Amino acid sequence: MIDKPLGVTVSRYIMDLQQMFPEAKGDLTGLLNELIVAAKTINAEVNKAGLADILGQSGKKNVQGEEVQNLDELTNNTIKKRMESCGYVCAMLSEEDEDIIPVRDGYSGKYTLAFDPLDGSSNIDVNVSIGTIFSIHKRVSSSTETPYCNVPGSQEDFLQPGRKQVAAGYILYGSSTMMVFTTGHGVNGFTLDPSVGEFYLSHKDIKIPKLCKYLSVNEGNHRYWNENMKEYVDYIKDKNISSRYIGSLVADFHRNLISGGIFLYPRDKKDPTKKEGKLRLLYEAAPLAFLIEQAGGVAMNDEGENIMDLIPTKVHQRTPLIIGNKAEVLEATEFLKEHSSLTR
Ligand code: AHG
Ligand code: MN
Ligand code: MN
Repeated sequence: MIDKPLGVTVSRYIMDLQQMFPEAKGDLTGLLNELIVAAKTINAEVNKAGLADILGQSGKKNVQGEEVQNLDELTNNTIKKRMESCGYVCAMLSEEDEDIIPVRDGYSGKYTLAFDPLDGSSNIDVNVSIGTIFSIHKRVSSSTETPYCNVPGSQEDFLQPGRKQVAAGYILYGSSTMMVFTTGHGVNGFTLDPSVGEFYLSHKDIKIPKLCKYLSVNEGNHRYWNENMKEYVDYIKDKNISSRYIGSLVADFHRNLISGGIFLYPRDKKDPTKKEGKLRLLYEAAPLAFLIEQAGGVAMNDEGENIMDLIPTKVHQRTPLIIGNKAEVLEATEFLKEHSSLTR
C-alpha cells in the first residue's frame, strides 16, 4: 500500500505504485491507464444514454441468452477497441462475447483482461447506477521461440483461480463516477471530476466496516432457492439489519464495501441453464472477491469454498456468491452447511 494524499490523480497513483517494484516494466501501469481512458469514454456514453437514442434493447441476445442492451454493446466495443492494440493484453474475455477476443496481430501482451462491460443492464433504462467490472491475470501461455507480442492468448490464460489475479476493480456510474481497484496492496477509490476528466483519490485504503448493516438479496427468487438458503435468509432477517437490493451487482457491492453488508446471489431452480446461480465467476465474482478480501471481507460460494480458490473450467461459468463482512459470510456458510440436509 502506498500512502498518497487525497486528491492525487489515479494515473499518478498507479505510476507511484509501479515504483514499488523496480523489476516492473510498466505494462500493468499501461494497461490500467488504457482502462481509465475506456472508463472515461464509457462514462460519457452512459451519462448521455437518455439522449443519444442508445437506450433500449439491441434486439440481439448474448452468449448468456440475455437481451443485449444498446449500451451493453457500446461499452463492450469501447473496451475492445481500446485494448486490442494497446500491447499489454494477449486476449480478452467479455460477458458479451462467447469466445475469447484476440488482440491485433503483433500486439499481444503479458496480461489477460476479463470484463463485464456493463453490469446491471436491467437498470440502464431506469437511470439506476450501473458499472463495469474488470479482472487482470498474468498470461500462462508463452513461447520461448517467439516474442510474446506475436503469441496470441488462449483459454488456458483465463482458466486461473481468482487468487492469481494481478489486479481487479470496477467503475461505478452512479451519483458520481468512481473507479475502485486493487493490485493486491489495498483497495482505493478514485472519483471522476467530469469537468476536468480526471479521477482523484477520494477513498484511501478502503476497509469494509466491522458491522454488517445491510442484507442484499433478491427475495423474489426465494421459492427457487434450496431449503437451507431459505432458512438462512429467514434467520438473518431476524437480526437488526436493513435490506437493500439495487439489482446492479457493482452498486450493491459498493454500498456494502463502504457501509458494511452481505450480498447473496444463490443458486436457484428458476432457470435450468443457471443452476449455479446467475453471476459469472471470471468477470463478476472473482474480481469482487479479490477486492473484498483486500478490504477485510470475504467471498464464498454456498458450499463453503472461497471464490478466490475456485479453479474455472469454462470461461463463462457461473457461481453462487455470498460476499461481504467476513463474520457474516462465514456464519452464512456455516449455517448452510449445518442445514445442508435440507438442500436439493
Ligand atoms: P449484467 O447486467 O452484467 O448481466 O449483470 C446483472 C446481474 C448483477 O448486476 C445483478 O446483481 C443481478 O444481475 C441482478 O439479477 P436479478 O435481477 O435476477 O436479481
Ligand atoms: Mn454483470
Ligand atoms: Mn453485463
